[in-house]
Amino acid sequence: MAGRDETKMSDLHTDAQTLEDHFTAAIADAETLDALEQVRVAALGKKGRISQLMKGLGTMSPAERQQAGPLLNGLKTRIADAIADRQALLHAAALTVRLEQERVDVTLPVAPPPVEQGRVHPNSQVIDEVIAIFADMGFDVKEGPDIETDEHNFTALNIPPEHPARQMHDTFYFHQRADGSRPLLRTHTSPVQVRTMRSEPPPHRFIAPGRAFRCDSDQTHTPMFHQVEGMVIDETTHMGHLRWTLEEFARAYFEVETVEMRLRPSYFPFTEPSMEVDIRCDRTGKDVRIGQGDDWLEILGCGMVNPNVLAASGLDPDIYQGFAFGIGIDRLAMLKYGAPDLRAFFDGDLRWLTHYGFSALDVPSLYGGLSR
Ligand code: PHE
Repeated sequence: MAGRDETKMSDLHTDAQTLEDHFTAAIADAETLDALEQVRVAALGKKGRISQLMKGLGTMSPAERQQAGPLLNGLKTRIADAIADRQALLHAAALTVRLEQERVDVTLPVAPPPVEQGRVHPNSQVIDEVIAIFADMGFDVKEGPDIETDEHNFTALNIPPEHPARQMHDTFYFHQRADGSRPLLRTHTSPVQVRTMRSEPPPHRFIAPGRAFRCDSDQTHTPMFHQVEGMVIDETTHMGHLRWTLEEFARAYFEVETVEMRLRPSYFPFTEPSMEVDIRCDRTGKDVRIGQGDDWLEILGCGMVNPNVLAASGLDPDIYQGFAFGIGIDRLAMLKYGAPDLRAFFDGDLRWLTHYGFSALDVPSLYGGLSR
């Protein structure tokens, strides 16, 4: 009996050693967590080889069990420990690989999102600024078409046919129509005065930004350019109001405390008296400086609305009076933002736009700061 038991025990020793060698090697060979899990199942799973071996403990005599128990438990513990160690190692290795793969260089510049890459043209920005300023003074915003009739662009503005002022405008005409009319590209935004006075009852207080066209091109002229028309009509409006309005505008637009203005007598058929407005500036340096220096810069034309213009649009000049002005938007943009050649405004060069353009998020407002 004792001899058989000894043989059995020695067989068990051999089996245990064989399993330990086998699984120790398998654990060391497992290169992935999945492979390691397969080894664990094969060794310690319900039907694993070591588990099977341990089931034999139940059928042993107490004497056998006393020997076999520690032997098999020792085996189980060492294999379980080896698996745990290997698992920790593989986990760490997998983490290292992942960290390497997902590495981010936080010092790299962040790519701006599309909304920050796009640029608002300086002209659009200046139009928004001008609207913000005049809206604050209670002006509405009106619009008119780019293609106008001779009547709106000239005749109703006291420029009858054959008037020499028509030559001053270098007008782009379309071909004559069957009815004898000849549409044109408006040479200024002033026809919006006529359209508004004819379609709405007085009093009027509005601005009208938009495109205008003249056959002209040099450093400060392009065939297409932008103006803001302004008009105030009621029964008591006088030239003091005009001057105050323009001064307020210039102060707000150029973002300076005081702007010294000079109203020079001039001539427009649609205003009487007519003036051109200069502001004091310094042009000795590279940039134009507003509000200081010994130089003057023309920024707009204006005047008291000619009674003929009021009458042509159905208003009684004995009751109504007021002023109008026309500001060159593009020149305002050049002045404030330092672009030296107006022609580049409309070349559509992305590099120019990236340099001179504005972020879409910089919406001008009087309380938030016009241009910051
Ligand atoms: N329409 C004029 C121009 O284009 C400007 C202007 C507008 C002058 C309104 C007086 C009144 O030159």
